[in-house]
Amino acid sequence: MSRQVFAIWCKTCPPLPVILINGMSSYANGKQRSETYYWWSLLLGFLLALAYQTVAQNISPVHSATSSHSGAKALAAQVHRGENQYASNCAMCHAQDLSGLDPAPALTGDKFMRKWQGKAIWDLYDKIRKTMPQNDRGGLKSRVYVDIVAYLAKFNDINIGKRELRDDQNLLKSIPIAKSNSQ
Ligand code: HEC
Repeated sequence: MSRQVFAIWCKTCPPLPVILINGMSSYANGKQRSETYYWWSLLLGFLLALAYQTVAQNISPVHSATSSHSGAKALAAQVHRGENQYASNCAMCHAQDLSGLDPAPALTGDKFMRKWQGKAIWDLYDKIRKTMPQNDRGGLKSRVYVDIVAYLAKFNDINIGKRELRDDQNLLKSIPIAKSNSQ
């Protein structure tokens, strides 16, 4: 059964058995139970079915496609925030275009990539959050450091996936520093 067919089945079929079983069991005991009870249990079955549908919708392939789309949008927003943060906290030493201003080295180009290639995004993040801005080491919020690292990665065409970076050591250690086109 393909995923799509399964998703459609999930959305339509389970409510029916739930309603039927509920209705039948109260009908079988109908003599002892009042009619009100019967209708209430039908309603309960219907509500359960509705709740089930909501869950089924959340696991459907259509939904996961939209959530990876919103992940990409969140990442784009993060890169944009990082660009602004870089401009106000780093550009005075490393230059607006990341080309460096002596003694601050370039944060882009061959020399930069040769130095960082093969390390993890975590290493770059850790270096920056502990030693930068050089005149206010560790002075920014970790959110801001993460946003700036996302910007540096995108600027250098480093493949960081399609989701926002987070201040999460395991996540950042799992992302190698490598050019998108070399993968
Ligand atoms: C006051 C000037 C100054 C500011 C502001 C500054 N840096 Fe630096 N940065 C330097 C200098 C000087 C070095 C070289 C010495 C070192 O590596 O610690 C450096 C080194 C670096 C390195 C290591 C580069 C390499 O390949 O060795 C990175 C990455 C970096 N800075 C990122 C940043 C980021 C991101 C910011 C903004 C949050 C920032 N810097 C703000 C002066 C600055």
